[in-house]
Amino acid sequence: MAEKRKIIMDVDTGSDDAIALCMAMLDPDFELLGICTVGGNVEAKLTTDNSLRVVECCGMQGKVRVYRGAERPIAATLLPWVPQAQKLPIRDGTKKEFNQHPFHLPLPEPVITAERKSAVSFILDTLLESSDGEITYVSIGPMTNLALAMRADERIIGKLRAVFCMGGGHETGNESAAGEFNVWADPEAAEIVLQSGADITMVPLDATTTAKFDEEDERRIRELGTAPAVLVADLLKQRIDAYQVIEPSDLKETAVHDALALCSIIHPEVLTDVRFCTVHTDISRGFAYGETILDQRPRNKEAANCRFALKADRQFFNDYIYRVLSEAKDRELQISIF
Ligand code: RIB
Ligand code: CA
Repeated sequence: MAEKRKIIMDVDTGSDDAIALCMAMLDPDFELLGICTVGGNVEAKLTTDNSLRVVECCGMQGKVRVYRGAERPIAATLLPWVPQAQKLPIRDGTKKEFNQHPFHLPLPEPVITAERKSAVSFILDTLLESSDGEITYVSIGPMTNLALAMRADERIIGKLRAVFCMGGGHETGNESAAGEFNVWADPEAAEIVLQSGADITMVPLDATTTAKFDEEDERRIRELGTAPAVLVADLLKQRIDAYQVIEPSDLKETAVHDALALCSIIHPEVLTDVRFCTVHTDISRGFAYGETILDQRPRNKEAANCRFALKADRQFFNDYIYRVLSEAKDRELQISIF
């Protein structure tokens, strides 16, 4: 069996983060060293609580630890709970049909609690104690924690094997015309990470919106009947229903942004159009604040710093999620028999 991929997950759980966390804990190709939370889809106290609920849903309490991270972005004031926040429609987790990210995931309140150590301390301690090139960092929310850790001790950059992040958008934004939410929420953090010199793969909206899940996928997963499978199916349904309101379409389907970034670590073939180029984040605080800008010009003299995915294989990704949940069920059954 191939060596497990050691990862740290940085999440703003969130419905698609929860699906990615299930994959990270149930896919035997990963060794999840810890979960760092950040304010993003909802406030950090809620992303932390939701992450703890998912750890228990996957039966990983006592094995996987959660570290609470940054509540606010480094400088941006776009998230609604940040003081001086620009007047923005506040996401109301109670309006279930409007929100693909509930304040509380549909799981029991957690028994386990987050660690006393902060996310940034955990990142610094773990990376500095690791061998060079041992750990992959998986960022699927605003990149605040990793950016703060990089600024606190740049030695961690050389320690990292790679950074995989869900974020950015070339042809489209979601939170604004130009900005994808994870980058838009903390553009300065994204720019710090992008220019750090780490080995970066960015899985943006361009790729995630070409690999969606529909009601048939939800039904197939729900039929597995295990707690993680039912959670994934419930979250797919919540997202499909929410997107019927947020972005009305004849097709009842949803992207699962974060899990695609995780899947691509072990299965790079799931990303079918990847550009290695120069990527910057607009931090000029103008109309395109938080936009990811690709420079693919032949005359560009700046070194490429990022693999940026523009397309993904929908069937491969659908089958990956189903297979991980199905094989986890088979292992559960084997344990119960013996
Ligand atoms: O734009 C999609 C990203 O924003 C995903 O990570 C989702 O969870 C939200 O954080
Ligand atoms: Ca997320």
